[in-house]
Amino acid sequence: MPSTIVVGGFFGDEGKGKIIAYLAKHDKPEVVARGGVGPNAGHTVEVEGKKYALRMVPSGFVYESARLLIGAGVLVDPEVFKREVSSFGLRGRVGVDWRCGIIEAKHIEEDRKDADLKGKIGTTGTGCGPANAARALRKARQAKDVKELEEFLCDVPREINEVLDHGKGVLVEGTQGFGISLLYGTYPFVTSKDTSASQMAADVGIGPTRVDEVVVVFKSFPTRVGEGPFETQMSEDKAAELHIEEYGTVTGRKRRIGQWDGKMAAYSAMINGATMVALSGVDRLDPSCRGVKKYEELSNEVKEFVAKVEQDTRVPVKLISTGPEISEIVDLRG
Ligand code: IMP
Ligand code: MG
Repeated sequence: MPSTIVVGGFFGDEGKGKIIAYLAKHDKPEVVARGGVGPNAGHTVEVEGKKYALRMVPSGFVYESARLLIGAGVLVDPEVFKREVSSFGLRGRVGVDWRCGIIEAKHIEEDRKDADLKGKIGTTGTGCGPANAARALRKARQAKDVKELEEFLCDVPREINEVLDHGKGVLVEGTQGFGISLLYGTYPFVTSKDTSASQMAADVGIGPTRVDEVVVVFKSFPTRVGEGPFETQMSEDKAAELHIEEYGTVTGRKRRIGQWDGKMAAYSAMINGATMVALSGVDRLDPSCRGVKKYEELSNEVKEFVAKVEQDTRVPVKLISTGPEISEIVDLRG
């Protein structure tokens, strides 16, 4: 470890939740901290036959000993947060930075009514854009102003930096994807914040010099939900023929599906400062690879694809996800 940031390299939904859950279980970090925008994210984790869909708490919760933190950069919807804390039984191990921005009913309403947000951009309707706008205008409430969050309040940067001072592991969970970054994505068809690794570090309060590894997750067939350009998008018929249709975790919308985009992957790996790539969904490329855990057992088709990804990004592929369950992975980190 010691400090590892995981981010999405395409348009979101690359399988970060699964990768983070695997890294948490396997590497046993002291802390798993969530950066990113807010509850617009939907991370799916499958472990021991159970499937979890998370929007606020870190996917690393599946490693029971980890302290779970939500960084100051993240927007908190207290309703969504409380629901997840109680349904996953996380009370006592989850902390919210006292400076987190708060999503209120009026933000959600605006996100769902505004013709540009809902219609043109196709937002998730979770209130994130309006809440971040209010935050920039210095009109937003902070977590410290919300009575029901009181028991969870903490100083996330202090906790994380102390863990790092002791040489222990911190896993930082990014959300969304590079292509919907406010700075580097397909503006205006983007989310309300940067989504790169530097932003995730800032969200949880670790300086750039304290980041050891940046894992950029790419999926074999990139997807995009909502509006905006998607250069390698394939037709719905083609996706159906390949049996690779997908639906969104938060909105249930049908995802647009595309072919591998080497140019985008290279640019994304560069800005994220990737030290390794995690490649997901190779079982969609070749279903015979589903559940494979050893590199040697991957088909030639998949091995050639892995080589192409390394060539395109000039970053080693060290994690290869072969299915949704967290044990379905080839780990080449050595
Ligand atoms: P917003 O983040 O809800 O404002 O939505 C802005 C755009 O980002 C829309 O196209 C959303 O579909 C997309 N988006 C936001 N969060 C995610 C995510 O976690 N995965 C995939 N797309 C997302
Ligand atoms: Mg998602």
